[in-house]
Amino acid sequence: KNYLQEVEQFTSIKSDEIELFRIKYLGKKGILNDLFTQFKEVPNEQKKEYGQQINKLKQAVTEKIESLKETFSVENDKNSDLDLTRPGVPYSLGSRHPIHIIRNKIIDIFKKIGFSVADGPEIEDDWHNFTALNMPEYHPARDMQDTFFIELNPDRVLRTHTSSVQIQYMEQNNPPFRILSPGRVYRNEDISARSHCMFHQIEGLYIDSNVSFADLKHTLQYFTTELFGKSEIRMRPSYFPFTEPSAEVDVYWGLETETDYRITKGTGWLEILGCGMVDPNVLKNVNIDPDKYSGFAFGMGIERIVMLMYQFGDIRMFTENDIRMLQQFSQEI
Ligand code: PHE
Repeated sequence: KNYLQEVEQFTSIKSDEIELFRIKYLGKKGILNDLFTQFKEVPNEQKKEYGQQINKLKQAVTEKIESLKETFSVENDKNSDLDLTRPGVPYSLGSRHPIHIIRNKIIDIFKKIGFSVADGPEIEDDWHNFTALNMPEYHPARDMQDTFFIELNPDRVLRTHTSSVQIQYMEQNNPPFRILSPGRVYRNEDISARSHCMFHQIEGLYIDSNVSFADLKHTLQYFTTELFGKSEIRMRPSYFPFTEPSAEVDVYWGLETETDYRITKGTGWLEILGCGMVDPNVLKNVNIDPDKYSGFAFGMGIERIVMLMYQFGDIRMFTENDIRMLQQFSQEI
């Protein structure tokens, strides 16, 4: 009987018919098992040819069932309400936090002029956060930064600025160097629209022979132009224990200022950072010879800059994780 022909001609898209076909051929009492049983009685010289025939038939049956099942499921899908031409559900990707977007921009700007990133602990000892930075015990400048103490005697604190990383780095490396230290800092302040007990700073330090105040000013002018577009800066005398002389830097956002951002124009001079020439006492504290080396340092709060650039009215928005705020930054990298 020509089973092979029968198999080839069989066609159905009904699952119960396909199942009956399967049982007829591959079932326990199916045709193929029968043929295998008869195999014993086949004369030796025909065994080879007979065996090949059965295998061929078995293969034809399995292939047939598989292909029918495939058509069957496609046909079935056509009858269901699955519509493969409908547009997909958009796959929502996360976005970077605005603090990180600006932090990365600032790092990229300084990388172009040879700065690299240094890291340090958020829990610091008194030496790195204060004493080595020319703020010995009882120095009134310690009051400038309300401190969270974790332990007293010896003091362990949540760092109040990332200047502590500069001490860490200078203790472990020899000049010249140019580093940036971005990171979280903590101050015991009441949380309000303008201030928070945790925020982000990014500080820079450049130590080499013959570094001058002019180098500092030029570097900062380069920085503000890269970040804000064409911009004018001014330096006002200020005081920090670890720099001498010290200055605060304002950027002018006048009507004529071209910027890449949605900064409210016409707001005038706005303070963005503190800076100065590293105090020789700080260099001595980390065994750098102040007669051979000099340098500058600067530091800024990232939140403040992000608030100016994107018109945030409330610093608390950065830590509320409101998805509507975060989604507005999904286009930025
Ligand atoms: N560490 C200072 C602060 O937190 C900022 C600063 C850094 C000022 C470096 C001058 C030089 O306020």
